Amino acid sequence: MNHAFWNERWQQGQIGFHLGQPHDWLVAAERRFPSRSRVYVPLCGKTVDLVWLRDRGHEVIGCEFVASAVQDFLKEQGLTAETERRESPDGGVHECHRTPGLSLLQGDALALNPQILGGPVDVIFDRAALVALDPDCRGRYVDGLHRLLRPGGHILLIAFAYDQSRVSGPPWSVDAGTIDTLFGDRFSIETVAVRSEEGNPRFQAAGVPAMEERCCWLTRND
Ligand SMILES: C[S@@+](CC[C@H](N)C(=O)[O-])C[C@H]1O[C@@H](n2cnc3c(N)ncnc32)[C@H](O)[C@@H]1O
Repeated sequence: MNHAFWNERWQQGQIGFHLGQPHDWLVAAERRFPSRSRVYVPLCGKTVDLVWLRDRGHEVIGCEFVASAVQDFLKEQGLTAETERRESPDGGVHECHRTPGLSLLQGDALALNPQILGGPVDVIFDRAALVALDPDCRGRYVDGLHRLLRPGGHILLIAFAYDQSRVSGPPWSVDAGTIDTLFGDRFSIETVAVRSEEGNPRFQAAGVPAMEERCCWLTRND
């Protein structure tokens, strides 16, 4: 899905994915994070997980390409940011909005590199990010995560699976087998939790009453 699609979703307020409180699986799993980690949150929207992680002592960097989502986040959290433009030789451009302990990179997460991020991170928190990307972007996205993460670093991944033949994404279905295919050769994969979640109204109407939500803790092998 392209920028225009997501921009329209944000303009029309179709952001059913947004939770008003920190994700319960993040709250439960954060004790696994090394203390004072650098944490990258790709496709972050305006999630309150960003400030929750910052308040736990981590240095947090989010990436989101819809400008109004970034502005909403700063406004709703009462944050005043210093903004700078970050460019890399390979053409990636991001507006970096910096506040103490928390930065938001406004730009394409698929064009992010360690240079723009200011160095590797210890942990990546992906909730509804992998599932938001078109399936044909997944390989590039996972290669990017691997590049941004320090060796031995971790990804806390929260994804959903459902019958893809009934309805199209996003969110796209990402099941355990897909996670294994995408990450298995470079990460060790621990399944932390699995549960059934009610599908959204569009999914219910298409005969998908429930989705399987899965939380995995991935560790970069080298
Ligand atoms: C399903 S939402 C999840 C938001 C957030 N992770 C949360 O839990 O609330 C996906 C978000 O990713 C953004 N997005 C989609 N593709 C992107 C990309 N290539 N780069 C940066 N942001 C992107 C969308 O604008 C949207 O806000």
